[in-house]
Amino acid sequence: MAVTGASNVTGEVWPIGELAGIAHRHGAELFVDAAQLAPHRPIDMARSGIDHLAFSGHKLCAPFGAGALVARRARLDEREPQLQGGGAIKLVTLDGVIWADAPDIHEAGSPNVVGVVALGAACRRLLELGMEAVAEQERSLAQRLWTGLSSLPGVRPLRLWPGASTDRVGVARFNLDGYRHPLLAAILSAEHAIGVRHGCFCAHPLISELLGVSDDEIARLRRALGGAPSRSPRRRAGQHRAGHDGVGHRPARGRGGRDRSDRVSRALRVPPRARRVPTGGGSTRLDYPPPACPAGRGGIASRRCR
Ligand SMILES: Cc1ncc(COP(=O)(O)O)c(C=O)c1O
Repeated sequence: MAVTGASNVTGEVWPIGELAGIAHRHGAELFVDAAQLAPHRPIDMARSGIDHLAFSGHKLCAPFGAGALVARRARLDEREPQLQGGGAIKLVTLDGVIWADAPDIHEAGSPNVVGVVALGAACRRLLELGMEAVAEQERSLAQRLWTGLSSLPGVRPLRLWPGASTDRVGVARFNLDGYRHPLLAAILSAEHAIGVRHGCFCAHPLISELLGVSDDEIARLRRALGGAPSRSPRRRAGQHRAGHDGVGHRPARGRGGRDRSDRVSRALRVPPRARRVPTGGGSTRLDYPPPACPAGRGGIASRRCR
């Protein structure tokens, strides 16, 4: 079973110990994607019951692209390598290859020495600071951010488990009524020197779920983008979202039909009818009318609307 340690979309920390218990009761092993968790929280793999874990150096303040996969030896030995190349083999013949034992089998090619040195230095520095101290500092800064955001009119935070006292890393995901995300990000950057990540974080299924986008609407979007029909329609929210009590629940927001579709269009500020514009060579792109001018805003917003 593979889960994220902390959501890169909502920042919510997943109940790893409970999930490990469920996986192990059913004879499965637990893999944790700790890209968002490792830089923010102490992780005790043995105590939490994590069997395998991966994390990225660049999220730990380590430059040069190294990351780590921590896995049980037996699993590493039984896998074919994802990348094939020098150093990963015992013997190559004209009709086959005998792979090296782990970890060499998974480390083909010239090693990223600089990246590994940087990753080691970043890990050492975080350990010197103490991950509990890092987590505490982050919690207090994040609390200030969430409190400030929720006091702003029109700001709508998005969370998987809105009412729960789930631990969260310092990610704040929100929509602001009246603004599309690229424009809002540009305003925050140009006028307030605040950098944000806008868009869907390559997590479109989760964002669709949080915004209540219907399967029909997703199917329409797939068609508009030239994609084949989905072979695996999403299950309804109540079927695959569960609180920490393990009981499936529907989010408080209303769902279903036309009402939901309108609400999503409003939330995304996507005009219901985009135009398909030919771009040559048989390709087309979707052209959206500009967003309504946000009243009372200066700077980029009003310049664009003029
Ligand atoms: C949860 C999660 N997993 C994986 C990744 C990708 O990591 P990398 O950039 O090292 O491929 C990210 C962020 O980009 C992430 O947030």
